[in-house]
Amino acid sequence: MRILILGGTVFLGRAVARQALAAGHEVLCAARGESGAPVGGARFVRVDRDEPDGLSAVEGEFDAVVDVARHPHHVRHAVTALAGRAGHYTLVSTGSVYADVATPHQTAATAPLLPPDHDADPAADPESYGRAKVACERLAAGGFGAGRTLLLRAGLIVGPEDPTGRFDYWVRRYERGGEVLAPGGPDESVQLVDVRDLADWILTAAGRGLAGPFDGVGAPMTRAEFHAGLAAGTGTAPPLTWVTQEFLLERGVVPWAGPRSLPLWLPLPRYAGFMSRDAGPSLAAGLRIRPLAETVRDTRNAFRDATHIDESLGLGIDEETALLREWHAR
Ligand SMILES: NC(=O)c1ccc[n+]([C@@H]2O[C@H](COP(=O)([O-])OP(=O)(O)OC[C@H]3O[C@@H](n4cnc5c(N)ncnc54)[C@H](OP(=O)(O)O)[C@@H]3O)[C@@H](O)[C@H]2O)c1
Repeated sequence: MRILILGGTVFLGRAVARQALAAGHEVLCAARGESGAPVGGARFVRVDRDEPDGLSAVEGEFDAVVDVARHPHHVRHAVTALAGRAGHYTLVSTGSVYADVATPHQTAATAPLLPPDHDADPAADPESYGRAKVACERLAAGGFGAGRTLLLRAGLIVGPEDPTGRFDYWVRRYERGGEVLAPGGPDESVQLVDVRDLADWILTAAGRGLAGPFDGVGAPMTRAEFHAGLAAGTGTAPPLTWVTQEFLLERGVVPWAGPRSLPLWLPLPRYAGFMSRDAGPSLAAGLRIRPLAETVRDTRNAFRDATHIDESLGLGIDEETALLREWHAR
């Protein structure tokens, strides 16, 4: 296939480009060149999608377009520039489009969405991200045709080159060893997707002309299984201490991401629907998920080679030790 990646210089876009090239496809990446570089072997064209005619340097026809846009006007400009020249279009969307994050086991085809915000600027207002992506979905399906547009609502994407560091926190934590503070309970749900599995599916889905909304995420696992995967992938077995969300929230530990956080942990029942989506339709439509231990091992190998590791995310060693001491003494 002749594939255009709108983006292609960061994490998922780079994975799509790398795997497309390995599969023998022809790849053109289009971006400003500010966030990163395309993988070797991909052609690159400099574009600025903030400009209405910003994609004018993209020439030719494409069997598949993969777009990681977050801004509605970027999709609007893509429709103007590329409709009629794209056989299949994948908008990489997000689970943040859903209106209800509390109800578990929801399915992409029927779950209610946030209202679209066509003027949203998620770079300036991160709270508008979900509404912006709903608008991107509407513009994409309207402009390229619902019958050839895949709305791929990615869940938590993890694996090598993840710029967020959320999953890396846990891999590093296991490598460090010693008693590990495990937030929440062993039966709570965790759901994620390896960036390479998502990239593979984007390519096979484009080849098959898959259209409509799908969740880009594997089946839910329990927190106990998540920790077992970390242990298997790092070849370590540190002792786990499960600490309740009430204890953590009372002491100002931050859910999900950021400084003084426990990444990938979300308070329940408020977020019970966020990492427990029905992956059945996506798995039936060709999504293949590798074992978690493999994702852990490859993530560890990738950040071992990294020149810079952001240590500000997650709990520091002293913070974790103090919380564990207090938990045991209560
Ligand atoms: N990470 C997660 O866990 C997660 C979860 C759910 C959904 N998602 C979605 O998954 C996708 C991730 O994509 P990604 O990993 O490739 O990273 P990304 O950060 O979304 O990449 C953005 C790409 O767009 C380019 N870009 C940004 N502004 C531009 C402009 N004005 N003109 C032209 N190009 C521009 C960037 O390059 P330049 O800056 O160099 O132009 C970069 O290549 C996104 O759609 C995100 O919403 C992610």
